[in-house]
Amino acid sequence: MKLPLVILTGAGISAESGVPTFRGAGGLWKNHRSEDLATPQAFARDPGLVWSFYAWRRELLQNCLPNKAHTLLAQLEEQFELTLITQNVDGLHQQAGSLHLIELHGNIWRLRCTNCERRWEDRRVPLRPSPPICEVCGAIARPDVVWFGERLPADTLNEAAQRAGEARTFAVIGTSAQVYPAAGLALLARQAGANLVEINPEPTPISKYADVCFRGNATEMVARWLNEALPA
Ligand code: OAD
Repeated sequence: MKLPLVILTGAGISAESGVPTFRGAGGLWKNHRSEDLATPQAFARDPGLVWSFYAWRRELLQNCLPNKAHTLLAQLEEQFELTLITQNVDGLHQQAGSLHLIELHGNIWRLRCTNCERRWEDRRVPLRPSPPICEVCGAIARPDVVWFGERLPADTLNEAAQRAGEARTFAVIGTSAQVYPAAGLALLARQAGANLVEINPEPTPISKYADVCFRGNATEMVARWLNEALPA
């Protein structure tokens, strides 16, 4: 029987693919913090500005490829009953071949109509017109991502929480663990008896609960964790 393994990733796992983290250097766009633009209020006030921000991020991501850490996690599905939970909207886990993926905060390559709620994939860069329009009802579309102040879809969060509660090992990779409910999944898993592993160059608020911490970049430390510490 395959062991249940759950992994939560954040922006740090994509850093070595060239994607800037949210709270690190490079997290600003034209002097705006992403926390100020990725909100329903900012979109209601100025959808053009928010779409310019996402157009910039999509352009940047267009040239980014999955790195060794993404690939190693995708390969783990052969060996474990793996659930990969990501806060990232960049689509790099999918691109690396991960199948059992829960995208907690949505996906930047998917759009959602603000009126009829239709969702569709659109990978065009640049996206025209901007803001994009729903072809069915003519309303403005938004990125299908979760913004600050918005609730995560209940079914997505419930599934992530259920998997976290069943995990034998729960690994947290490349997240500052400041955003809830995502960070709370690690604590939930720990309380339910999981072995908690953290991979991050910096300590985070959940480091003190971790059974083992690998301090360093994801590409190197994921490989080390898999070689040294992960029970088969
Ligand atoms: P953050 O930018 O808050 O944190 C990135 C983390 O990655 C930090 O703890 C870094 O130390 C770590 N890091 C940097 N380089 C790394 C590397 N090469 N390998 C491993 N770790 C590295 O990003 P998140 O924790 O993902 O939410 O942020 C969580 C959420 O807040 C995001 O999903 C987004 C954001 O604002 C929404 O958009 C709703």
